[in-house]
Amino acid sequence: MSGIDRICVVGAGGREHALAHTLARHADVVVTPGNPGMVAPSITVTAEPAEKIDADLFVIGPEVPLVDGLADRLRAGGRLVLGPGADGARLEGSKAWMKQMCARAGVPTARYGAFTEAGPALEFLEELSASGCSLVVKTDGLAAGKGVLVTDSREEAAQDVRAKLSGRTFGSAGSTVVLEEGLVGEEVTVLAVCDGRDFSLLPASQDHKRVGDGDTGANTGGMGAYSPVPHIAPAELDRAVKECVAPMLEALRADGIDYRGVLYAGLMLTGSGPRIIEYNVRLGDPEAEAVLPLLDGDVGAWLASAAAGTLAGDAPVSSEAAVTVVMCAEGYGTPDGPRTGDEISGLEEAGSLEGVTVFHAGTGRDAEGRFYTAGGRVLAVTARRSDLGAARDRAYEAVSRITWAGAHYRRDIGARALRREGAIK
Ligand code: AMP
Ligand code: GLY
Repeated sequence: MSGIDRICVVGAGGREHALAHTLARHADVVVTPGNPGMVAPSITVTAEPAEKIDADLFVIGPEVPLVDGLADRLRAGGRLVLGPGADGARLEGSKAWMKQMCARAGVPTARYGAFTEAGPALEFLEELSASGCSLVVKTDGLAAGKGVLVTDSREEAAQDVRAKLSGRTFGSAGSTVVLEEGLVGEEVTVLAVCDGRDFSLLPASQDHKRVGDGDTGANTGGMGAYSPVPHIAPAELDRAVKECVAPMLEALRADGIDYRGVLYAGLMLTGSGPRIIEYNVRLGDPEAEAVLPLLDGDVGAWLASAAAGTLAGDAPVSSEAAVTVVMCAEGYGTPDGPRTGDEISGLEEAGSLEGVTVFHAGTGRDAEGRFYTAGGRVLAVTARRSDLGAARDRAYEAVSRITWAGAHYRRDIGARALRREGAIK
């Protein structure tokens, strides 16, 4: 026995369902606040706050409680926690601070400026625009992945800067805007499990951020993911880790920050080498739903070793592949926002397919046990198979069994990778 018999997962989305599902293989899992779809014999959902829960390990899923210092409060009470304290979580909580840290650590990233006033911001836009790159406008604070505009139009960028700074679109998260040069290349997510000194990588993955097929439409929290990423050469990933992951962890340590948790490196592999787009201080969502199902063995004991500052080697990673398709409610990815309350059918048929797990992200359940939609991203449907093509086929087979009024999802998750391999047209 590892001594990690009871694990508390903090969060309520698809990522936390994937964590609970993975950890429940070797431990009892309690999820706070969880969601009604997290149903399994060794999973319990509770409304009790984490501070009141007794567990051998706490795994904090989302960024908001991390930025808010939940890991510090739990550690102050003597608990074993995977997730950085508020000091490390600032890497995600403030893009401006993240950029300063990149400069100090020598991590390559996009040219940028941070502004609180429209005048200087618009001047900088002009300067960026003159260099011929696309323009990126971000909020400084947390905006659930939705605060980013990438555009070739200076006029659109300028309008967005004004809207964000006025507080109309993102409230106080937008009171500082970060303007960036648009990077061009292959985007990839690298997740490092860190113990404050050493780290170990999880399989690389790719998210699909835009709402529409072919990467069209608005940026969302993420419409699907797959792992591993076969068309990125191991040497390229190694370089990205050496240039963008290791030096940042060193810089944090040099600042006295004991980073024990997952460091998410959102990378662009450009023609002139890797560049960091963003760090997150947690597993990605939906990347977690594709990556965690590829881990075999006692994942809880392994994560506990990182939380204790004594990382025990690498995670046992399967050589198979996984594809996750996010199914969304009508209106998700549009200014109207999602419609909720639609009854979902076909969950059991989908979940009974071999290799398939249906993670719940935004569902509710009525007194008769029927599930209905209760958020924008409703389900993350994952299939693990021997290779990417088989995983993709199986994931979409599962998706085709699930229906509700207005359900939508991307039909091209993983397609670009398979096209690169010549496996599909
Ligand atoms: P972020 O919230 O910083 O991760 O941005 C969300 C998404 O916007 C990223 O995953 C990218 O697809 C895109 N993006 C952000 N910054 C840049 C950039 N500098 N160049 C190109 N795309 C970007
Ligand atoms: N999938 C992107 C994120 O979790 O921020």
